[in-house]
Amino acid sequence: MFDYFPIDANEFDGPVLVTGSGGCIGSWTVALLEHAGVKVHAFDLTVDKRRPGLLMNEAALNNVVWHAGDIVDTAAVKTVVEKSGVRAIIHLAALQVPFCRADPVAGALVNVVGTVNVFEAAKACGISRLTYASSVAAYGALEDGGAMSTLYGAYKYCNEQTAKVYSEENGLHSVGIRPGVVYGVGRDQGMTSKTTAAILAAAANKPYVVPFSGDVSWLFAGEAASAFIRSVAKAHAGAPVFDLNGEYISVEAGMHMLKDVAPAAQVDITGGPLAFPMDKSDDPLRAFVGDYGRMPLKEGIQSTYAQFQALIKAGKLDASALLS
Ligand SMILES: NC(=O)c1ccc[n+]([C@@H]2O[C@H](COP(=O)([O-])OP(=O)(O)OC[C@H]3O[C@@H](n4cnc5c(N)ncnc54)[C@H](O)[C@@H]3O)[C@@H](O)[C@H]2O)c1
Repeated sequence: MFDYFPIDANEFDGPVLVTGSGGCIGSWTVALLEHAGVKVHAFDLTVDKRRPGLLMNEAALNNVVWHAGDIVDTAAVKTVVEKSGVRAIIHLAALQVPFCRADPVAGALVNVVGTVNVFEAAKACGISRLTYASSVAAYGALEDGGAMSTLYGAYKYCNEQTAKVYSEENGLHSVGIRPGVVYGVGRDQGMTSKTTAAILAAAANKPYVVPFSGDVSWLFAGEAASAFIRSVAKAHAGAPVFDLNGEYISVEAGMHMLKDVAPAAQVDITGGPLAFPMDKSDDPLRAFVGDYGRMPLKEGIQSTYAQFQALIKAGKLDASALLS
């Protein structure tokens, strides 16, 4: 599956730091970099290799340098960047919509202060390759953005504005990416994780109801990771921000594809469409950073289903716990 996403280790001038490395996109980012032979430093709240371990074997996991730390801790972030000697940072650590809603202060600390900490550390250590995850939810912070407003989106938009100021005032440039709905192995939390949950339920022979319908973005987690990696394969000027949605297809059509792969799947769909503008093209990002590979939706659903089946069979994934 990694072959879909070509990464040339020669393009990297040193190790890469991945924050939020225990999360979904973080796991794929760490796995793809390690597979390509790039030295990786992983940073997350705890050394929890559960999600990366769904994609990597023990030997590959041991090739990664794991750091436990809080992105909110300014000194800790700076120390890791300084001491690890990383030359690029992929900043993914964040709290998603439900967590920001439940605890707005924690959300602001992690998503806003945490991002400032990463920029400060990058500035102090002369890092010239920096990318960070914004979100399609940032459109909710814009007048006429066509998206529901969430604190999460407000914080993500603040990240984009922060990046702009660091570029203009400090010459610290970055690439911001606004992913839409990510699906794939490791996607087990967040408001939009339910299309993945439906694939997991099918692999576990359990019924599932997706709580939203209509057109959504289907962005394979490995493709998202590859886009972030490509964004630090060289230094860029400015602080541009790009949409990243993968394929824009209805939940209903996606579930039909799932049933082609798993005819016994018991999936229902309820609720209305997600109020985010997920139809925006990935072409500007691809033109700016170069090709980062692509996962066609049907193959993405098929491989995710097959991976889930294999992981359940191997006892590496507790589907009941994840679907409860
Ligand atoms: N998954 C999506 O569909 C999607 C869509 C748009 C944007 N994004 C953004 O992409 C990034 C990665 O998303 P994901 O799906 O992998 O999220 P995730 O929730 O799976 O992972 C986030 C990771 O951040 C870590 N983290 C949280 N607080 C931290 C802290 N205080 N210090 C250090 N680490 C901390 C978590 O432990 C977790 O491992 C996030 O910034 C997210 O907002 C994701």
